[in-house]
Amino acid sequence: MHSTARTRLRIAGALATVLVAAGIAAGPAAQAGDRPHRQPTLADLAERHGRYLGSATDNPELTDTAYTDVLGHEFDMITPGNGMKWYATEPQQGVFDWTAGDEIVDLARSHHQRVRAHTLVWHSQLPDWLTSRTWTADELRAVLKHHIQTEVRHYRGTVYSWDVVNEAFNEDGTYRETLFYTTLGPGYIADALRWAHEADPHAKLYLNDYNIEAVGPKSDAYYALARQLRAQRVPLDGIGLQAHLALQYGYPASLEDNLRRFSRLGLDTALTEVDVRMQLPATEDKLARQADWYRDMTEACLAVRRCVGITIWDYTDKYSWIPAFFPGEGAALPWDEQLAPKPAYYAIRDALD
Ligand code: G3I
Repeated sequence: MHSTARTRLRIAGALATVLVAAGIAAGPAAQAGDRPHRQPTLADLAERHGRYLGSATDNPELTDTAYTDVLGHEFDMITPGNGMKWYATEPQQGVFDWTAGDEIVDLARSHHQRVRAHTLVWHSQLPDWLTSRTWTADELRAVLKHHIQTEVRHYRGTVYSWDVVNEAFNEDGTYRETLFYTTLGPGYIADALRWAHEADPHAKLYLNDYNIEAVGPKSDAYYALARQLRAQRVPLDGIGLQAHLALQYGYPASLEDNLRRFSRLGLDTALTEVDVRMQLPATEDKLARQADWYRDMTEACLAVRRCVGITIWDYTDKYSWIPAFFPGEGAALPWDEQLAPKPAYYAIRDALD
């Protein structure tokens, strides 16, 4: 059967299950006096496979209680979308501000959720004091080490993992010429991992990037670097594949093979920032295709033992970063702007169930 038709059938089945579970419709075996049982959440279903199911979130959204209700019960891993980035945590040199990150860690704790912390070293969203002057290599090394170790120490014991270095490579697999690379050379990555490990030996340490879902020049660069770092006993635990996909560019068919080759190096992998955008308006067909992609990604992760979990880059179209960055595109997430589950939500359930 064509996979889009399969999606429609499965959605109908899943919807019936939801209605029965919610007590809105009677299932075939329902008896008078039966009490509706609680529908297992995405996190419950993922947990049965030893995986987590996470969502990013951001501080301004936390006043929306309808939003935080779903965030608090459907997921078991939370990533702060902005609150732990350098501009937020060290707005002036040596002056640290944990307000935004702490708020999200506290919220996650109150819902018994873990935290994928994001991110220590990135070329974007850096504070002005860091980007508005030049640094010698010695100066920048000291600044970088202090930033990493102060932040990692602050969150020691409260976060599951860190995206230590984010987006270090170009599409062709060459190093991205960031402030850190041009001043310190490629060794800044191993240094950052070692410094983070010193500050919290229990946190899982990741390199994280987009467009590395398929086997290709950029994921090959990560594979080569990861192999080299493992051989040098640099504390690297995992590779994060962001998975910001777009219907118009095709599905990364080699995702599962790609996850598997990193596993064979002894590394964890995770899908860390999943969304599947489309050119608007969203049609039934596009939403069905999107649902297939979410199902396929979930199945790929479940098929590879060391793919430890999936995080969507916020769960609802209401708070997606896409429309602001890609005008005319959106509808990328499994819940719509009214917080209603879309076909993609049922497809993830279906893959996990
Ligand atoms: O904080 C200011 C606020 O003061 C101002 O009023 C407002 C007006 O536009 O902007 C606010 O800053 C925004 C910031 O998010 C915090 O909300 C920036 O404009 C906006 O560009 C920024 O976008 C973030 C983006 O990273 C920056 O590149 C997104 O929220 C965040 O979801 C996104 O996340 C990245 C990951 O970290 C790495 N991978 C890609 C992913 C998507 O870009």
